Amino acid sequence: MNNNTSYACIAIPATLVLLLALCEGTSGLTQVDALLRWKQNLPQQPILDTWVINYTATAQTPCSWRGITCDSQGSVTIINLAYTGLAGTLLNLNLSVFPNLLRLDLKVNNLTGSIPQNIGVLSNLQFLDLSTNYLNGTLPLSIANLTRVFELDVSRNNISGVLDPRLFPDGSDSPKSGLIGIRNLLFQDTLLGGRILDEIGNIRNLTLLALDGNNFDGPIPPSLGNCTHLSILRMSQNNLSGPIPPSIGKLTNLTDVRLFSNNLNGTVPQEFGNLSSLIVLHLAENNFVGELPPEVCKSGKLVNFSAAYNSFTGPIPRSLRNCPSLYRVRLEYNRLTGFADKDFGVYPNLNYMDFRYNRVEGDLSANWGACKNLQFLNMAGNGVSGNIPSDIFQLDQLQVLDLSSNQISGEIPPQIGNSFNLYELNLSHNKLSGKVPSEIGKLSSLQSLDLSMNMLLGPIPNQIGDISNLESLNLSNNDFNDTIPYQIGNLAALQYFLDLSYNSLSGDIPANLGKLSNLISLNISHNNLSGSIPRSLSEVLSLSDINLSYNNLEGPVPDAGIFNSSHPLDLSNNKDLCGHIRGLRPCNFSLTKPDGGSSKRHKAGIPIFASLGGALFISWVLVGIFFLTYKRKSRAPRQRNSFSRLNPFSIWYFNGRVVYRDIIEATENFDSKYCIGEGALGKVYKAEMKGGQVFAVKRLKCDADYLDVESIKSFQNEVKAMTETRHRNIVKLYGFCSQGMHTFLIYEYMDRGNLADMLKGENDALELDWHKRVDIIKGVASALSYMHHDCTPPLIHRDISSKNVLLSFNLSAHVSDFGTARFLKPDSPIWTSFAGTYGYAAPGDFVSLLFVSN
Ligand SMILES: *[C@@H]1O[C@H](CO)[C@@H](O)[C@H](O)[C@H]1NC(C)=O
Ligand SMILES: *[C@@H]1O[C@H](CO)[C@@H](O)[C@H](O)[C@H]1NC(C)=O
Ligand SMILES: *[C@@H]1O[C@H](CO)[C@@H](O)[C@H](O)[C@H]1NC(C)=O
Ligand SMILES: *[C@@H]1O[C@H](CO)[C@@H](O)[C@H](O)[C@H]1NC(C)=O
Ligand SMILES: *[C@@H]1O[C@H](CO)[C@@H](O)[C@H](O)[C@H]1NC(C)=O
Ligand SMILES: *[C@@H]1O[C@H](CO)[C@@H](O)[C@H](O)[C@H]1NC(C)=O
Ligand SMILES: *[C@@H]1O[C@H](CO)[C@@H](O)[C@H](O)[C@H]1NC(C)=O
Ligand SMILES: *[C@@H]1O[C@H](CO)[C@@H](O)[C@H](O)[C@H]1NC(C)=O
Ligand SMILES: *[C@@H]1O[C@H](CO)[C@@H](O)[C@H](O)[C@H]1NC(C)=O
Ligand SMILES: *[C@@H]1O[C@H](CO)[C@@H](O)[C@H](O)[C@H]1NC(C)=O
Ligand SMILES: *[C@@H]1O[C@H](CO)[C@@H](O)[C@H](O)[C@H]1NC(C)=O
Ligand SMILES: *[C@@H]1O[C@H](CO)[C@@H](O)[C@H](O)[C@H]1NC(C)=O
Repeated sequence: MNNNTSYACIAIPATLVLLLALCEGTSGLTQVDALLRWKQNLPQQPILDTWVINYTATAQTPCSWRGITCDSQGSVTIINLAYTGLAGTLLNLNLSVFPNLLRLDLKVNNLTGSIPQNIGVLSNLQFLDLSTNYLNGTLPLSIANLTRVFELDVSRNNISGVLDPRLFPDGSDSPKSGLIGIRNLLFQDTLLGGRILDEIGNIRNLTLLALDGNNFDGPIPPSLGNCTHLSILRMSQNNLSGPIPPSIGKLTNLTDVRLFSNNLNGTVPQEFGNLSSLIVLHLAENNFVGELPPEVCKSGKLVNFSAAYNSFTGPIPRSLRNCPSLYRVRLEYNRLTGFADKDFGVYPNLNYMDFRYNRVEGDLSANWGACKNLQFLNMAGNGVSGNIPSDIFQLDQLQVLDLSSNQISGEIPPQIGNSFNLYELNLSHNKLSGKVPSEIGKLSSLQSLDLSMNMLLGPIPNQIGDISNLESLNLSNNDFNDTIPYQIGNLAALQYFLDLSYNSLSGDIPANLGKLSNLISLNISHNNLSGSIPRSLSEVLSLSDINLSYNNLEGPVPDAGIFNSSHPLDLSNNKDLCGHIRGLRPCNFSLTKPDGGSSKRHKAGIPIFASLGGALFISWVLVGIFFLTYKRKSRAPRQRNSFSRLNPFSIWYFNGRVVYRDIIEATENFDSKYCIGEGALGKVYKAEMKGGQVFAVKRLKCDADYLDVESIKSFQNEVKAMTETRHRNIVKLYGFCSQGMHTFLIYEYMDRGNLADMLKGENDALELDWHKRVDIIKGVASALSYMHHDCTPPLIHRDISSKNVLLSFNLSAHVSDFGTARFLKPDSPIWTSFAGTYGYAAPGDFVSLLFVSN
C-alpha cells in the first residue's frame, strides 16, 4: 500500500515537470525534450527506464541515459541502442536537434515504419546502422546529404523502391544547371524533375554501403561509382535488375562485394579483375552471362567467391589457379569450361568447393588431396575422368564428396576407409569398376552412400553393415552378385531408401532386413533373388514403398504391413508368389505343378492390374523423370535405367533455382487461385508442373537466408525433423526451396483433399462406407502410434482434426500439417520455431466420423 502511494506521489510531479519542459521547448526543443517526447511515443519498454527527468539536478542532460553519449559540451554525439529489442518507430524523434550526432546505431531491434525523410539533417553523422529491423517505405533522398557518413547500413529490413541515382555523388542522370532549392525532400516527388541541390549526392566518404535483404528494385545507379572510398558493398537479396555499372569496377578499394540473389543481368565488368583488394565476391543467383573476370584473384586475397546459378560461359578464371587464400567457392550450375586438374591449384585453406553441373573435363587431380581443410567437394555433372586419387581420402575434414555423373573410372581405392568424417559420398553415374573395398565399412560417420550406375562387381562387402549412421544406401545398377549380406539389416539408422535393384544378387532375401524399422523405401527388384518373402518385412511399419519385382521369388506374400497396400507391379515378374494381392493367385490354391500353368496364369494377370495401376506407376515415373532432369540435367540416362532414387530430402536437392522458378511459374507467383488451404505455417498451393506432376506447396511466412549458414542449418534441421516422421499414413515431404524472399515446403499432393470437406460433400460422404471409415481411422491411429512410440524423440501432433487428415486417390489417410507439432525433447532449441502457436485442438470432429450417417 505504502509503496503504491509513494509511487503515485512521484509520478504526478514527473508529468508536470515533463510538461513544463516540453512547453519551454517551443522556442527551442532541447535534446532532453526530444528524447523524452520520442520515448512517450514509443511502446512502454524497460530499456528506456533511465530516460527520465533528474529532479535533484538543476540542469537536465541526457548524457547518463542508457545508450546516450555526449561531448564535453553535453551535446549528444552517440545514440546506441543496438540489440536492445527497441520497438516503435523513428518518426517522432526530432532529428534536427542533434547537430553533433556522429553515430546512430539501432541495429537488431524491432523498429517499424519508415526511415525519417529528413534524416539528412544529421549533417555530422558518420555512422548509421539501422540494419535488422522491420523498417519499410523507401530510402529517403536526404541521405545524400549525409556528407560525412562513412558507414551506412540499412540491411535486412523491408525497404523498397528504386535506388535514386541522386543518392550518390554527381549522378550522371541529374542536370547540372538550373538548380532549384528543395526544402522538403520527398523521395517520391517526381515533380522536382530530378533537379537537385548542390549538396546532394555527396556521400563521397562512404566506405560501407549495405542495402542487402530488402525489396529494392530497378538498376544499380552508375553514380555509385563516384563513392571512391567504398570498400564494402552489399546489395544481395533484393530485386535489382540490369547490369553492374562498369564504374563500380573502378572502385579499387573494394574488398567485399555481395550482389547474390537479385535479377542482375549482362556481363560482369572485366574491371572487376582489377580490384586488387578483393576478398569477397558474391555474384550467385542472378542472370549474368559471359565470362567470369579472369583476374578475379588478382589481389591474391580472395577468400569467398560465388557465381553459382547464372549462365556464365567461358573458362574457369585463370587467376583461381594461384589463389591460396580461397576458402569457399561456389560456381555450380553455369556452363563454365575447364579442367579439374590444370585449372585449380592447391588451396591450403579451402573449405568448400562446388562446381557441379558445369563443363569441366580433365582428370581428377591429386591436388584435391592436398587441400587439407576441404570439407565439401562437389564436381557432379561434369566430364571429369581418370581414377579417384587415394589422397582424396586422406582429407580428414572431408564431409561431403560428390563426384557423380562424370566419366571417372578405375577402382575405388581401399584408402576410402580413412575418411572417417565423411557423411555423404556420391560416386554414382561413373565408370567405376572392380570390387568395393571392405574398408568402406570404416566410414562410421557416413549417412548417405550412392554407388549406383557404375560397373562395380563381386559381392557387396559385409562390412557395409558396420556403417552404423547410414540413412540411405543406393547400390543399384551395378553387377554385384552373390547374396545380400544379412549385415545390411543391422543398419538401424537406414531410413530414406535401400536400393539394390538392377544387380545380379542371388539367394534368399535375408530375414534380418526386417530389423530396418525406420526404412521408408526398399527396392531389390531386377536381381536373381529366390526363396520366399520373409514375414519380417511386413513388420517394418515405416515402409511406404517396396519393390521386389523381377526376381525368382515364390510362396505366400505376407498379408500384413506394407503388403496390404503394395502395388501389384511391385511384386510382378517373380517365379510364383501367391496372396491376396490382385494379379496373384490365392495361396490356398494348390500348386502341385511347379512351373508351366502357374506362371502362365501369372502372366495373364499382369495386363489386368497393369491398367488399373497404370496411373500410379506413370505418376511415379514422371516424378522420377522430374528428379532426373534436375539432378542430372546435363546427362542422358543410361540404357538400363530405372529411375534410381535420389535422396529427396537433402538440402541441396531442391535448392536449385530451376525448381524454384518452376514452382513460382506453376503457381503464377503464388496466386490465390492456386491456394488450396491454409495451415499453421502458411498457405498451401497446388503446383502442377510442366511435366504433369502435381505437388502441394506450402509457402512459409518466414524467409530463410541464403548463404547464412546458421539459418540454413536450423531450417535444415527443421525439415529433417519433418522427414523423421516418415510413415505411410503421414503425408510425404519431398523437399524445400529457400531462395530470396520465398521459403516453401514441397509435399505430396493428395487428390481427395481433406477428410472434413469429404464428410461435408454429400456424394463424397456416401462414398465413405463403413469399411473405408474404419480404414481411415486405422490409418490415423497407426500414424499417431508411430509418432508417439516409434519416433525418437516422440512427436506430438497437437492438432489432429479431420481438416488435417488428407486422403489419397484410394482414400488412404495421411496425417498432415505439423505446424503445431512438438517433439518431446525439452532442451532442444531446434524445434521451437516449428512448434506453432495454436493450442491443442480437441479431436472431437474426428470421432464424429463414425457417426455421420450415410
Ligand atoms: C524539431 O525541432 C526543431 C528545432 O527545435 C523545431 O524547429 C521543429 O519544429 C521540431 N519539429 C517537430 C516536428 O517537432
Ligand atoms: C541526478 O543529478 C544529481 C546531481 O547532478 C546527480 O548527483 C545524480 O547522480 C543524478 N541521478 C541520476 C540518476 O542521474
Ligand atoms: C521483438 O520482436 C520479436 C520477434 O518478433 C519478439 O519476440 C520480441 O518480443 C520483440 N521485442 C519487443 C521488445 O517488442
Ligand atoms: C543538407 O545539408 C545542408 C548543409 O549542411 C543543409 O543546409 C540542408 O538543410 C540539408 N538538407 C536537408 C534536406 O537535410
Ligand atoms: C510499413 O509498415 C507499417 C506497419 O509496421 C504499415 O502500417 C505501413 O503501411 C507500411 N508502409 C509501407 C509503405 O509498406
Ligand atoms: C572525408 O574524409 C576525410 C578524411 O577522413 C575528411 O578530411 C573529409 O572532411 C571528409 N569529407 C567530408 C565531406 O566530410
Ligand atoms: C515488405 O513489403 C512488401 C511491400 O513492399 C509487403 O508486401 C511485404 O509483406 C512486406 N514484408 C514484410 C515481412 O513485412
Ligand atoms: C559520377 O558518376 C557519373 C556516372 O558514373 C559520371 O558521369 C560523373 O562524371 C561522376 N562524377 C564525379 C565527380 O566523379
Ligand atoms: C584505399 O585503402 C587504402 C588502405 O586502406 C587507403 O590508404 C587509401 O586511401 C584508400 N583509397 C581510397 C581511394 O579510399
Ligand atoms: C522484381 O523486378 C521485376 C522487374 O525487374 C518485376 O517484374 C518483379 O515484379 C519484381 N519482383 C518483386 C517481388 O518485386
Ligand atoms: C537485362 O534485363 C532488362 C530487364 O530487367 C532487359 O531490358 C535487358 O534487355 C536485359 N539485358 C540483357 C543483356 O539481357
Ligand atoms: C561373381 O562375379 C565374379 C566376377 O564377375 C565371379 O568371379 C564370381 O564367381 C561370381 N560369384 C557368384 C557367387 O556368382
